[in-house]
Amino acid sequence: MAAKLIISSMVFLIFIFFFRSSTAAFNVITYGAKPDGKTDATPSFLRAWKAACSSVKASTIYVPKGRYLIKAAEFRGPCKSRITVQIDGSIVAPTDYRALGNSGYWILFIQVDRLSVIGGTLDAKGSGFWACRKSGKSCPVGARSITFNWANNVVISGLTSINSQLSHLVINSCNNVMVRNVKLIAPDQSPNTDGIHVQSSTGVTINGGTLQTGDDCISIGPGTRNLFMNNIKCGPGHGVSIGSLGKDLNEDGVQNVTLTNAVFTGSDNGVRIKSWARASKSFVRNVVFQNIIMKKVENPIIIDQNYCPNNQGCPRQTSGVKINQVTYRNVQGTSATAEAVTFDCSPSNPCKGIRMHDIKLTYLNKAATSSCKHIDGTSTGVQNPQSCL
Ligand SMILES: *[C@@H]1O[C@H](CO)[C@@H](O)[C@H](O)[C@H]1NC(C)=O
Repeated sequence: MAAKLIISSMVFLIFIFFFRSSTAAFNVITYGAKPDGKTDATPSFLRAWKAACSSVKASTIYVPKGRYLIKAAEFRGPCKSRITVQIDGSIVAPTDYRALGNSGYWILFIQVDRLSVIGGTLDAKGSGFWACRKSGKSCPVGARSITFNWANNVVISGLTSINSQLSHLVINSCNNVMVRNVKLIAPDQSPNTDGIHVQSSTGVTINGGTLQTGDDCISIGPGTRNLFMNNIKCGPGHGVSIGSLGKDLNEDGVQNVTLTNAVFTGSDNGVRIKSWARASKSFVRNVVFQNIIMKKVENPIIIDQNYCPNNQGCPRQTSGVKINQVTYRNVQGTSATAEAVTFDCSPSNPCKGIRMHDIKLTYLNKAATSSCKHIDGTSTGVQNPQSCL
């Protein structure tokens, strides 16, 4: 009787084991994709997605080595089970920038739960688009390389993206996203090529990563909560930026953001908070920037609440964005300008609860300076430049 019970429970466990570990595999080659970089592989990728998305078992979409030409493509959920997209190859955009330029996105995942994107290289071939922008001609709106909209429980790991038209990676209206060891590269002077843009999302972690871009390494937009960034290499580019916020009156704020263990090299900014000089109900609170090394950064620490490009559309000329509880701890290295710390807060909504601890920034081996406007806070430990708080 006991033996029978043991055998039947073992059979049950084996059954559970196989049921849980079996996954369905969908190779894009099987769906007709040609790894030649010339034949349009978009329909094949979409067919593989459709099959994976309707699978009741967890599935893997496999993209083997090779180059795959993909046009603007939408990978839509909800799907029946979890999906892993394992990319060993490169995904390339059409050479003519106008092919993607009007859709706003290149690769879009939308309304997907439990998705992992592992490996892969994306080459959006953005140079034609940047040249159009620089020439002042009328150009298409441009495409972000990879976007996640309304996606939950997402892992993006080991992805490389080069030469995006606009942002490389956008996380919008998502929950619980892990971005691990991504490499995002675009030339220093390429316009609006942000590395990672996060907005309206909760629980995003960015762990590891090399971000060399023409615009912000990481830009943090309205409605970002519980963002944790660790071990980031940034520069060239415009640094890590909260904002621009407060363009609109009714705008969600940013709260609970941590950046730790980051190195900025030759970037325009290090850690920046930026808001429009316009009326707004937006806010920034509970932010920590710590253990940061600056190497020849133009504005290592900056709050700029006077953003108003071309002095247009800022009738009251003061920002409504309330900035509260921001900590800078152990920030050291070199500034590329004499003023290493700039706090230019809103006269109508002064910054509050700003804390600085152990700041060691120099300019040409000499003391740098700091400047404070409309700010309240405390400084402790070493303060180079001398604190203006
Ligand atoms: C702040 O965000 C972290 C993730 O970075 C999270 O673990 C923590 O619970 C959040 N704190 C609050 C008060 O929401």
